[in-house]
Amino acid sequence: MSLVDVTSGHDEEFLAIATHFEALLIRKEYGHGEMIRDEGHPRRFYAVRYWTDATAAERFHADPEAQALTAGLYRIARVTHVVNGVHKSAAMRLMLDDRRARIEADRRTGFDRRVKDAGRSEGNRRVRERRIGPRRVQDAGGEIDLIGAARRARENADAAFSHFKVGAALEAGDGAIITGCNIENATYGLTLCAERVAMFKAISDGHRVFTRIAIVADTAAPTPPCGACRQILWEFGGNLEIQLANLQEEKGSYMLKDLLPLPFDARLL
Ligand code: THU
Repeated sequence: MSLVDVTSGHDEEFLAIATHFEALLIRKEYGHGEMIRDEGHPRRFYAVRYWTDATAAERFHADPEAQALTAGLYRIARVTHVVNGVHKSAAMRLMLDDRRARIEADRRTGFDRRVKDAGRSEGNRRVRERRIGPRRVQDAGGEIDLIGAARRARENADAAFSHFKVGAALEAGDGAIITGCNIENATYGLTLCAERVAMFKAISDGHRVFTRIAIVADTAAPTPPCGACRQILWEFGGNLEIQLANLQEEKGSYMLKDLLPLPFDARLL
């Protein structure tokens, strides 16, 4: 994996090179790649490459096409090799799993506490309403621009029928940002809202704990989640913080329990 810091003003050139890299990896069966944007740092990306096998990486580095792309990349970005060919250690995985298990239990058992305000099981140390999930990683450093991520996701909206483009960015308990946009369909009814796309992507990637979601549309009045999305967000995310914004400014912040005051969920089955 490499850390890529793109020089200001070269964003489009960088995205073109990244697309070429990905195409080359697949076309010549070297493997595949992923370019993950760091929402906490503008123009910082994590380039992850998955090689088909041990020799694929060597063949790739010897390939003149790959060398030309790499040279182009080095002209417009600072590239730092972070880690090479290492699998997550068993101990690290155990720690993560354990942390997750505890959070998961907390989310499920926390339903009653949150709704009836019965306080924490280990006593009422906190006076303010507690945020669901662990302390976020970015609380220690620069704040993640969740609304910015939702604005970027909105660019991908497929809204050929309503022309109403929406973007969403969901923050997971470990600080990961999962984005979504609305995707419409000729039968209209199969349309998916940005919020549900973000949540289903997150669930399918293994995330189970969420802290907040930003929703962006290009309208003066804020765009709150529809009823179906409120239900899905509640069932998978609990009492999320919901940030509404347009392309210029934030328009308000709400807690989901206030938007869905008498929810139906698994407790009632
Ligand atoms: N839409 C969303 O994606 N999220 C919302 O919160 C409200 C509505 C989408 C669905 C549809 O594609 C378009 O906006 C118009 O309703």
